[in-house]
Amino acid sequence: MTAAIQRRLEIPEPHNAEKTELHPELNRAHVRFIGLGKTYNGRQGPVAALQGIDLAIQRGEVFGIIGRSGAGKSSLVRTINRLEQPTSGRVLIDQVDIGEFDEDRLVALRRRIGMIFQHFNLMSAKTVWQNVELPLKVAGVPKEQREKKVRELLELVGLQEKHKAYPAQLSGGQKQRVGIARALVHDPDILLCDEATSALDPETTQSILGLLREINQRLGLTIVLITHEMAVIREICDRVVVLEHGRVVEQGPVWEVFGNPQHEVSQTLLAPLQHALPEELQSRLHGQAPCADAAVVLRLQFTGSASDEPDLAALFTALGGRVKLLQGGVERIQGHALGQLLLAVSGSAFSAGQLSERAAPWAQRVEVVGYVV
Ligand SMILES: Nc1ncnc2c1ncn2[C@@H]1O[C@H](COP(=O)(O)OP(=O)(O)OP(=O)(O)O)[C@@H](O)[C@H]1O
Ligand SMILES: [Mg+2]
Repeated sequence: MTAAIQRRLEIPEPHNAEKTELHPELNRAHVRFIGLGKTYNGRQGPVAALQGIDLAIQRGEVFGIIGRSGAGKSSLVRTINRLEQPTSGRVLIDQVDIGEFDEDRLVALRRRIGMIFQHFNLMSAKTVWQNVELPLKVAGVPKEQREKKVRELLELVGLQEKHKAYPAQLSGGQKQRVGIARALVHDPDILLCDEATSALDPETTQSILGLLREINQRLGLTIVLITHEMAVIREICDRVVVLEHGRVVEQGPVWEVFGNPQHEVSQTLLAPLQHALPEELQSRLHGQAPCADAAVVLRLQFTGSASDEPDLAALFTALGGRVKLLQGGVERIQGHALGQLLLAVSGSAFSAGQLSERAAPWAQRVEVVGYVV
């Protein structure tokens, strides 16, 4: 692990339970993993799915987990409600080690933790109302209370009208809304989402994310969210962790990891969000200046470290000559400006190196990409 990534980790390594317990940030953590490991007995021998995971999830945050397929994301999340039994290490919820829990306490724990899935897991022979009511029935909640709760939740997820419908009569987004209502029946304080929007189209994904955000803010739920859609993380998460081969390789606030990913895996996962050079430009780009009046192509990156968008007039004045905008855009994540500008500068009195230096105050990273005629 590089020093830059290590600096951003909130938990000192190697973990030392006694020492870290004194850290106030960690003591406020809603969910903590300490030296967590999980090894499955696969057909071809043991599979180390998680190794030495030290992580803290704060109360009320939306915490994202990303990583390649098989990185251990689902395994990690499933240790929070003990659907998965760790092989080593501990999981603390509100500072309580859930590894010590007997069956009764586990049942109570699982009621405090809602979960939603990619394929909704609804009962096809039951109506919307019955699907949401079922866990309350199982828990022996009296009829009157059940009805009140189901009505309340169907209203929260916007499905009052559909209470008599069967899952087959619902759209994907509506099915996930039923899934969310069902996950909230016991007023949980944690909601686990494993690829909850992966089966939905972009517009429906937006509406489900809106609902999750509302639940997070209105009910104060801590949300732990696995997704392979980076835009979902950017949209809704406060912090993100990147897993690879069962280990944490990077973590931090979303704006920081997305603005300046350090690890190769994070860079690969986030590459689709970065603007690549347009092909047409790539084809006429020269490594060396082909003639005296060739334009220098500069790439300015805004990694979110400064909260201000670039002042273009000031930047263009500093560069001198004619400045053309080839490509670019700045977006905001958690109040930080992130993005890039691709500029072609011609007729300037400055060399490529000097231009790069002169642009430096306006961006976190400046690069001379090449020359175009
Ligand atoms: N029940 C199991 N038995 C054996 N191996 C398992 C079992 N469950 C998971 N694994 C293995 O553990 C590793 C982590 O799996 P996990 O499902 O946690 O990954 P993931 O990051 O959620 O992947 P995906 O993005 O594909 O859902 C994988 O190598 C997987 O094959
Ligand atoms: Mg998974």
